[in-house]
Amino acid sequence: MSIRPPAGMLDAAAAQARASTVRSQIAGCGSYLPERMVTNHDLAKLVDTSDEWIVERTGIRVRHVAAEGEFTSHLAVKASERALAAAGTKADAVDLIVLATTTPDETFPATATRVQERLGMTRGVAFDVQAVCSGFIFALAVADNFLRLGQAETALVIGAETFSRILDWQDRSTCVLFGDGAGAVVLKAGRGNGLPTDRGVLSTRLHSDGRQHDLLYASGGVSSTKTAGVVRMDGPKVFKHAVEKLSAVVEEGLTGAGLTSADIDWVVPHQANRRIIDGVGKKLGLPGERVVVTVDHHANTSAASVPLALTEAVGDGRIKPNDVVVMEAMGGGFTWGAAVVRM
Ligand code: COA
Repeated sequence: MSIRPPAGMLDAAAAQARASTVRSQIAGCGSYLPERMVTNHDLAKLVDTSDEWIVERTGIRVRHVAAEGEFTSHLAVKASERALAAAGTKADAVDLIVLATTTPDETFPATATRVQERLGMTRGVAFDVQAVCSGFIFALAVADNFLRLGQAETALVIGAETFSRILDWQDRSTCVLFGDGAGAVVLKAGRGNGLPTDRGVLSTRLHSDGRQHDLLYASGGVSSTKTAGVVRMDGPKVFKHAVEKLSAVVEEGLTGAGLTSADIDWVVPHQANRRIIDGVGKKLGLPGERVVVTVDHHANTSAASVPLALTEAVGDGRIKPNDVVVMEAMGGGFTWGAAVVRM
């Protein structure tokens, strides 16, 4: 007896056939940064640090910090509206929202459902994913799978954070590194004539390793302390893992897409630290002018950092249609991943 799949879902054979002919194409992207800017000089009034130390060790000069009453969902909605406008897509065409965040408005419901409601979307499905700074890559991979398997046609993939809310503003080793912001892309299921189209998400690769928990974590949580906790990190150890793991996952992503580093037009890395970005670029043998760097004016915005950087480079015309773009990120967990996309 054959079992009929639920309405709206494809059976296994049909899903497999679709997955081999459909690619998730980036139709538009957008971002939003809170108005308030905090410079390194401002931070030097709070903790024992200096502009010189922060610029030399991280490349960061300024970060944006959300105003009181401005939540992750507010940033996410603004970035989403801009992404939808860039894609020429109305919110009611969206049938999937995947929002990556570590700093949700509330413990529940998912921040994605707040965004769904404010965009005026009354159908489809909206949920959050949590992979800290790798969140956007994880969300992109999830949405890509939904689209290729026929479970959605148009997705909003969002990275949005108010990381300033989980910083210990007395800990100079962490509070200088992070900022708030949001970025979003509209993904559309693109079809070839029975063949994969050549544009869209070509491959995604995700990893996690729970053994590295103690190197980067929040000191609290709903179930353990009934508080959100604050960021705790062993910076130098995270640094070493980051360069190694990010270069390896980019290579994996390229292999999955049948490409090599010579095919890369742009790398859009997670913007944690200029020295990590340069280290990964060097390991991959990429010239610096092929790497998008925004960490100087955003700092590390966790899940928002990759879509913020992508939006900037698309907006100023550096990234063009048909360019091969590699996005990569790593975060607490550890989690890490890469996505290879032909724009
Ligand atoms: N200002 C001034 N001095 C600072 C400082 C600050 N904001 N933060 C730390 N220091 C001090 C330390 O206390 C230490 O002093 P000591 O030598 O007297 O003990 C000294 O600077 C060197 O600290 P260290 O941690 O070894 O510096 P570093 O060169 O490794 O740089 C980071 C620190 C955090 C910038 C760097 O390790 C890093 O970027 N790691 C990766 C972090 C990251 O990106 N995490 C997110 C991943 S998603």
